[in-house]
Amino acid sequence: MSARHRIGCARLRDKRMSADEAARFITPHSTVGMSGFTGSGYPKAVPMALAARIEAEHAAGRPFRVRVWTGASTGPELDGALARAEGIEFRLPYNSDPLVREQINSGRMEYFDLHLSQVAPMAWQGFLGPLDTAVIEVSGIREDGALVPSSSVGNNKTWIDQARQVIVEVNRWQSAALDGMHDIYYGTALPPNRVPIPIVRPGDRIGEPYLRCDPDKVVAVVETDAPDRNLPFRAPDAAARAIAGHLLEFLRHEVKVGRLPSALLPIQSGVGNIPNAVLGGLLDSPFERMNAYTEVIQDGMLELLAADRLGVISATGFSLSPEAAAAFNADVARYRERILLRPQEISNHPEVIRRLGCLAMNGMIEADIYGAVNSTHVMGSRIQNGIGGSGDFARNAYISIFMTPSTAKDGRISAIVPQASHVDHIPQDVQVLVTEQGLADLRGLSPKQRARLVIDTCAHPDYRPALADYFARARAHSYGQQSPSLLTEALSWHQRFIDTGTMRVSS
Ligand code: COA
Repeated sequence: MSARHRIGCARLRDKRMSADEAARFITPHSTVGMSGFTGSGYPKAVPMALAARIEAEHAAGRPFRVRVWTGASTGPELDGALARAEGIEFRLPYNSDPLVREQINSGRMEYFDLHLSQVAPMAWQGFLGPLDTAVIEVSGIREDGALVPSSSVGNNKTWIDQARQVIVEVNRWQSAALDGMHDIYYGTALPPNRVPIPIVRPGDRIGEPYLRCDPDKVVAVVETDAPDRNLPFRAPDAAARAIAGHLLEFLRHEVKVGRLPSALLPIQSGVGNIPNAVLGGLLDSPFERMNAYTEVIQDGMLELLAADRLGVISATGFSLSPEAAAAFNADVARYRERILLRPQEISNHPEVIRRLGCLAMNGMIEADIYGAVNSTHVMGSRIQNGIGGSGDFARNAYISIFMTPSTAKDGRISAIVPQASHVDHIPQDVQVLVTEQGLADLRGLSPKQRARLVIDTCAHPDYRPALADYFARARAHSYGQQSPSLLTEALSWHQRFIDTGTMRVSS
C-alpha cells in the first residue's frame, strides 16, 4: 500500500522519518503520552527505538528515564521494551505488562493507578503536569491532516491537544476500513462550563470520525506494519463455565420478574477469560438482540455481533485473540456501522453509564463477606494490573456484578475473605458476587445478611467453616455490630499466606 494512500496530507508526508530519528525528539525525564488501550492501537516502532536509545545512554553512564502515560495497557514493544531498558520512572493509568508490574512491585517504578474515565479530565485540569510529547498510532492521515484512529482511541484526543509536539505512527497493518468507525467528541469542558454528554443510546454518534491535529505540532511521521498485541484467550474451564451459568440464570430471572427488559440493558464486560466465557454463554441465551456500552471489545463481543445477538457495541478499543483480529481485519466493513470507538472519558463516562443503566460484569481478586471487592492488590500490597474502568462502571451501573473462582493458587487461597486486604469497590458499589459455587444477590441486604449469604453461596466448601467461625466470633466480640469484625484476625488471615510462603514476597 502506498504512502500516498495512507498519508493523504503532503505536509505530513514530508515529515516521514525512521523510528530512530523520531525517538530523538524525546528527551530524558520528559513526559510522553502514548496511544494504546488493552493491547490495541499502541505505537510499536518509536517506543522500541526509544528503548534502544535509553539502553545506549545507560551504557554510556548517562541516566535516561521518561514518564509514560497511556490509555490503558499496551504491548511488549512499548511497556515491555521500555521497562527492559529501565527507562520508565513513572507510569499511569493502567498496566498489565509483567516486567512493568515487577518493577512497580519492587519499588523501582512509580505508578499512579486511576479510574480510566478520569485520566483525560485530570490532564486538562492540570493535575498531572505538562505533557511534552504525544506518540500516537493511527491507521491513516487525511489530506487536511486529520488523523484516522486505529484500533483504540483511549486518551489520544487529549494527548494530541495537550502535548507540545506530536509523533505519529501510521500502521499499515491496521485495516484502512476502520475509517468511519470512530466517534471523537470535542464537546467536553472544565467546570463550571460542563454540559450533558448527549448519549441516550449506546449507538448514538455525538462527535466526528477523526482526531484533529495541528500539522505544525507534528514533528515526525513514522510508517509501520506491525500487529497489535492480540493475546489468545484460554478456553473456558469448568469454573468459568459455572460462573457464566449462574450469571445467565440470574439475568433470566431478572427478566422474568420484570426488573430487566427482554433485551437486557447495555452490557459492560471486563477483560479476561471469565468475562469472555460469560459473553460466550450469551450466544445461546434467550434474550432479544442486546447492545453493549463497554470499554473493550473482546472475542466474545465480536461473536455476539456476528451472530446478530448484539446490535451495537460502543467501546474505546479492542482486545482480541490473533485469530479474531485477523478475521475482524478481513471483514471490518461488515461491522463498521455497528461499532463505535470513543475516547475513554466518554466510553467510561459515569453520567452515560448511569443514564443507560449498564450491566457491569467485572473480574476481581477477592471479595470479603460484606461485599467489599479488591480488584487490584494481591495480599493488599502487590499490584496486579489496576482498577481500569471497573470503578467507572461498578459505581454507576444498573447492576454491578463481580466474579472470580472461589479459590486461587490451586485451592490454597480463598477468594472470599473476612476482610478484603485492599478495597477498590466498597460494599455499596457491589450488588452481585459470583463464583463457581453460586451467585449472591446482595441488593437490599444489611452487612450481616450479606455475610451469611456470601459464606453459604460463594465461598468454597473447604473455607466455609473457617469463615462461618470467624463471623460467629465477630458477632460475639466485635466493637460494633453493624459490620462485625475482629480487626487483627481479619488481616492476619492474609498475612499467614505470606508468612508460610504460599505467596512469595517480591524482591
Ligand atoms: N489471592 C492471591 N492471589 C490471587 C487471588 C487471590 N484471591 N486471585 C488471583 N490471584 C492471582 C492469580 O493466582 C494470578 O497469579 P499469577 O499471575 O502468579 O498466576 C494473578 O492473581 C491473576 O489472576 P487471574 O485469575 O489470572 O486473573 P484474571 O485474568 O481473571 O483477572 C483481575 C482478574 C482482577 C486481575 C482482572 O479482572 C483485573 O485486572 N481487574 C481490574 C481491572 C478491570 O476490572 N478492568 C475491566 C473494567 S472495564
